[in-house]
Amino acid sequence: MFVLGIESSCDETAAAVVSNGKLLSNVIASQIKDHSAYGGVVPEIASRKHIEAVSAVINQAMADAGLTLKEIEGVAVTRGPGLIGSLLVGLSAAKALAYGLNIPLVGVNHLEGHIMASFLAEKKPGFPFVALVVSGGHTNVYLVKNYHKFQLLGQTRDDAAGEAFDKAAKLLDLGYPGGVVIDKMANAGNPKAFAFPRAMKDSPDFSFSGLKTSLLTMFKKCNGRISSEELPDIVASYQEAIIDVLVDKTLKAALENNIKQIVVCGGVAANSRLRERFATATAANNVELFIPPMILCTDNAAMIAALGEIMLKNGRSDSLDLNAVSRWPLVSVSAAGEKRG
Ligand code: KG4
Ligand code: ZN
Repeated sequence: MFVLGIESSCDETAAAVVSNGKLLSNVIASQIKDHSAYGGVVPEIASRKHIEAVSAVINQAMADAGLTLKEIEGVAVTRGPGLIGSLLVGLSAAKALAYGLNIPLVGVNHLEGHIMASFLAEKKPGFPFVALVVSGGHTNVYLVKNYHKFQLLGQTRDDAAGEAFDKAAKLLDLGYPGGVVIDKMANAGNPKAFAFPRAMKDSPDFSFSGLKTSLLTMFKKCNGRISSEELPDIVASYQEAIIDVLVDKTLKAALENNIKQIVVCGGVAANSRLRERFATATAANNVELFIPPMILCTDNAAMIAALGEIMLKNGRSDSLDLNAVSRWPLVSVSAAGEKRG
């Protein structure tokens, strides 16, 4: 079947077409330049930019797929979690299309979408697997038992890993979004040069606020004067502290539950060092690793369409009075077939 996916939960307006698990088009209009002056996403600006972009993005996704709207058989849209004003733009566009074309609408969970991005690859994971969802808003480890069946094994107690990247970049005045700049700069640095803390060693949960504070303390000690020679080492060491705990805790979760497959997804999974470290660690422990290509790690609609197609094929759809939700923990997605809240 041909399914159109729409994503607008944060600062990317995206549309994609998927057919029988294959990606036919994937269009992403990024708002980075609109928010960079503020060092973070400004929700009101994000909503307005989504409104400006959404029709053109959908039209482009249709053109790239070589299809007309009349050929689309279902619309999948991110219902949450995310910025409510931003979500409503994508949701309204999806509802209008579903109504106008008389096709089913399905609202999907953004985090579940990130996990399902790994199903768009040739080599797909098989249930059960452990998934690390690591993005600007989340750092969660799940035991994924089946479609819509999750057990939360660990989560951040404070900042998300992506936030730790973004806040460090803001403090060091490196630009936005922080993860991408730090990823590049860290390549030229020594990850062992500085000792940053690795918090909550004996817990399945994460904490990144102490790490952020320790960077701030270092910054204040030298009155913000960090030499250009030292900067790559600081950034590489800071990045390594984040990656160390992500790799260790995810691997531990898999081994403790006797799981042989790990999925790593979400914006931070685009990080080159993280990809390398996960590849080494999983290979050494006989665990198979599934990380979507970088373009499917950061926010996109391909993952929404892919999940939507599976849900629609399983007979799940939503009515046109579906509302957006800013908070929607994945655990409440619950067992397949159950009515979702
Ligand atoms: O999944 P995503 O696009 O949006 C959310 O759902 O939050 O993730 C965005 C986050 C941002 O914090 C950004 O800095 C981070 O992903 N990110 C990266 C990289 N690319 C994006 N972090 C580290 N290295 C990267 N290459
Ligand atoms: Zn995301």
